[in-house]
Amino acid sequence: MRKKITIVGAGNVGATLAERLHATGLVDIVVLDIPETGNMPKGKGLDMEQAGSVLRSDGLVTGTTDYKETANSDIVVITAGLPRKPGMTREQLLEINAGIVAGASRQIAASSPKAILIVVTNPLDAMCYVALKASRFSKSRVLGMAGVLDASRMERLIARKLGVSIENVSACVLGTHGETMVPIASYSTVFGVPITKILKDDEIKELVHKSVQGGAEIVELLKTGSAYYAPSASIQEMIMAILKDKKKILPCSAYLEGEFGISDTYLGIPAVLGAQGLERIWEIPLSDQEKESLVRAAQSVKEMTAHLKKTPALAGS
Ligand code: NAI
Ligand code: 2OP
Repeated sequence: MRKKITIVGAGNVGATLAERLHATGLVDIVVLDIPETGNMPKGKGLDMEQAGSVLRSDGLVTGTTDYKETANSDIVVITAGLPRKPGMTREQLLEINAGIVAGASRQIAASSPKAILIVVTNPLDAMCYVALKASRFSKSRVLGMAGVLDASRMERLIARKLGVSIENVSACVLGTHGETMVPIASYSTVFGVPITKILKDDEIKELVHKSVQGGAEIVELLKTGSAYYAPSASIQEMIMAILKDKKKILPCSAYLEGEFGISDTYLGIPAVLGAQGLERIWEIPLSDQEKESLVRAAQSVKEMTAHLKKTPALAGS
């Protein structure tokens, strides 16, 4: 039987992910949006399913605004959220998206109690915390996508700079999906050799800066939204690791309870993904400076969740 995947939010990331997953022919997909979007999700679902005729995909695609249709999903991806509007503060956006993610997580917990939740909505690491608390799922079944995307950006920059295949490049990016991202140059390699042995310090600094600013650069270029091709490809990578029970180590936002010396927060770290979701945190040795950067990153997420604890999204958590 094909696995069932629900995508909450039929916007740019959600719809592009649905299209990618449908092309694999491995899954049935439900794409859900809010009633205010009318029949938009239904229309997108129908269009995608018809594309499946050409792609020879037997998977079904259902667009809906009703959580009943999402019942018993194996994996649920939350991409629902609002972008920042003129005049809106970061805190206001934080509260609005936290409300959306909390509501979606509660509905999913009721309709798909065994699902694995992958959170995508920004600010990512804080939204994962909200999803964990609202769903009451175990930490192995609530994880966030950001590190795969951030590493993909750094890998592409390294491959271009050195004129080598992307297949020879591997980047390690931890920390938050934001200003306190922690790219680890010593574990970013070309054919197994750390870039610290190939590139000069100032070249690495520039690569790191561009990687951290990768999302903002695309927002600046698009003007009306943020990236969705690379984000949807990154979510698909995580989903495939879970569906195929690969035990693949990927950078994910995970709930930490003492790992890397950090507790009670979500943060981007390497994790083993398999059929049970986030099966294990893969602790790697870090320098004192890298550890300090991770602790600083964790602090920035904790500031957001502390604020949210005064709002309905996390009240009483
Ligand atoms: P978008 O605006 O195209 O789509 C968002 C969709 O969510 C809209 O269709 C909207 O109607 C829907 N929505 C709003 N409230 C909802 C609710 N309560 N229930 C169901 N659907 C609801 O935005 P896009 O580009 O798809 O991005 C989605 C989110 O993902 C944003 O928060 C964005 O910042 C984040 N993002 C995160 C990335 C990461 O690496 N973690 C990468 C790319 C985007
Ligand atoms: C990105 O990094 C907006 O989080 C999104 O492109």
